[in-house]
Amino acid sequence: MNTKTFELSNPATGVKTGLPVRSGTIGPDVIDIGSITKDHGVFTFDPAFGVTASCESKITYIDGDKGILLYRGYPVEQLAAKSSFMEVAYLLLHGELPNESQLQGFVTSISRHTMINESLLRFFNGFHHNAHPMAMVSAVVGSMSAFYHDSMDINNPRHREIFSHRIIAKIPTIAAAAHKHAQGQPFIYPRNDLDYCSNMLNMFFAVPCEPYRVDPVAAQALDLLFILHADHEQNASTSTVRLAGSTGANPYSAISAGVSALWGPAHGGANEAVLSMLEQIGSVDNIPKYLAMAKDKNSHFKLMGFGHRVYKNFDPRAKIIREMCYKVLEKLGRADNPLFELALRLEEIALKDEYFVARKLYPNVDFYSGIIYSALNIPRSMFTVMFAIARTVGWVSHWLEMIGDPSMRIGRPRQLYTGPTLRDYTAIDKRG
Ligand code: CMC
Repeated sequence: MNTKTFELSNPATGVKTGLPVRSGTIGPDVIDIGSITKDHGVFTFDPAFGVTASCESKITYIDGDKGILLYRGYPVEQLAAKSSFMEVAYLLLHGELPNESQLQGFVTSISRHTMINESLLRFFNGFHHNAHPMAMVSAVVGSMSAFYHDSMDINNPRHREIFSHRIIAKIPTIAAAAHKHAQGQPFIYPRNDLDYCSNMLNMFFAVPCEPYRVDPVAAQALDLLFILHADHEQNASTSTVRLAGSTGANPYSAISAGVSALWGPAHGGANEAVLSMLEQIGSVDNIPKYLAMAKDKNSHFKLMGFGHRVYKNFDPRAKIIREMCYKVLEKLGRADNPLFELALRLEEIALKDEYFVARKLYPNVDFYSGIIYSALNIPRSMFTVMFAIARTVGWVSHWLEMIGDPSMRIGRPRQLYTGPTLRDYTAIDKRG
C-alpha cells in the first residue's frame, strides 16, 4: 500500500492536502494531483508536458540522465545485439520474449496479413506523383478503417489482436506502394516467404522486368534500425495515438494520427532534415558558421538530430547507429562516405561547444539513421516513413495497453484561459 504523500498547502484558503505519491518500479515518483481542483480550486500548468506523467505504462523505460532505454525491462543494446525486429515486436506487444513456437506463430500471422485490399491500393493513383510519402501513408492508414470492419470492435480482445497484426503487417506494403507511386513504377506484391525487412526491401526495389535479390546486409541493417525505433514511451506521436484512441475512435484512425504527428521535424521528420542539413553545410569548413546559426536565437536554424526532451546524455540509440554506420557502409562497399565524415566532425565539434555542453544537447536517434537509409538507396523523403513502420509496433502496444485498462477515460487537457472576459455582441455598424 502506498503511504507517501506530498503536502500541498494553499495560504489563500488555508486548505492543506496530502497528495498521494505513486512509485513506479524504477524512475522518479509522481505526485497524483487528481484531487487538487476539488480541494484547492486550481489546475496545474505544464504546456509541453515537460513534467507530467500522462499515464501509467509497463512498456518502455527511459533514464534520460544516464542514457538508458529499456523495452519491457531489456536494455536496447542487448536487443539490438541479439534479437530481431519481430521478436522485439512480440515483446513490446505481449510483455515477454516469445518462445520458439510463439515467435513462429506471430511471424506466420504477420506474414499472412501483408496484402492490402486492391481498392485501397488504387487510392495511390489519386495522389500527385510528387506527394510526400508521409501524406500518402497517413491518409491510406486512416482509410483502412473503411475496409477492415471485421476487426474494429475495440472492446473485443480478438478484434484488437487482428487489428494489431494487420497494421504491423500492412504498413510496409503501404509504404512500398507510396514509394513505387513516387517512382512511377508498378507496385510489387508482398512475398510471404521473405522475412519482414527482406520483404519490405523487395517491395521497394524489385521491378517486374528482372530478378531482384535482397542484400542480406541491407535487410539486417534495416532490422536493427527497426528495433531501435520500435518504441520510446510517451513521445509526441505515441501520446497522439493514445489521445485519439482514448475517444474510442477506431484504431486505424489513431495510428494515422500518430503518423501525422511523427512527420514534424522536431520528431520523426528530423532524420530527413539531418541529411538536408548536412548537404547544406557541405564541408567541415562551414561547420562553425552553421553552429553559430544554431546558437543564434534570431535564426530558425537548429542543429537537426541534436537535443532531446528526455535525454540529457547520449541517446543510446544514436551510439548504436553510429557504430552501425561504420559496419554497414563498409559491408555495402560505401566506406568512403563524405556525409558520414561530416556528421562525425559536426558531432565532435558540437560536443565541445559551450552552448551544447551547457544545455546537454547530444546527438539523438535521427542524427545518423539517414546515413544508413541513404546507403540502402532509400530516398530521403521515405526516411520518416521508415521510422513510422518501426514505431507502429510501439503505437499499437500503447494503444492496446490503454484500451485494455478498465480505468481508461477520454484524454482531455484543461487550459489557462487568457482571452477576453465576458462581453456583449456589437452590431457591425457599431464596430470601429
Ligand atoms: N539546436 C540548437 N539549439 C537547441 C537544439 C538544437 N538542435 N535543441 C535544443 N536547443 C536549445 C533550445 O533552443 C533551448 O535553448 P535555451 O535554453 O537557450 O532556450 C535549449 O536547447 C533546450 O531546448 P528545448 O527546446 O527546451 O528542448 P525541447 O525538449 O523542448 O525540444 C527537441 C527537444 C528534440 C524538439 C529539440 O532539441 C530539437 O528541436 N532538436 C532538433 C530536432 C530533432 O533532432 N528532433 C528529433 C528528436 S529525437 C527523435 C524523435 O523524437 O522522433
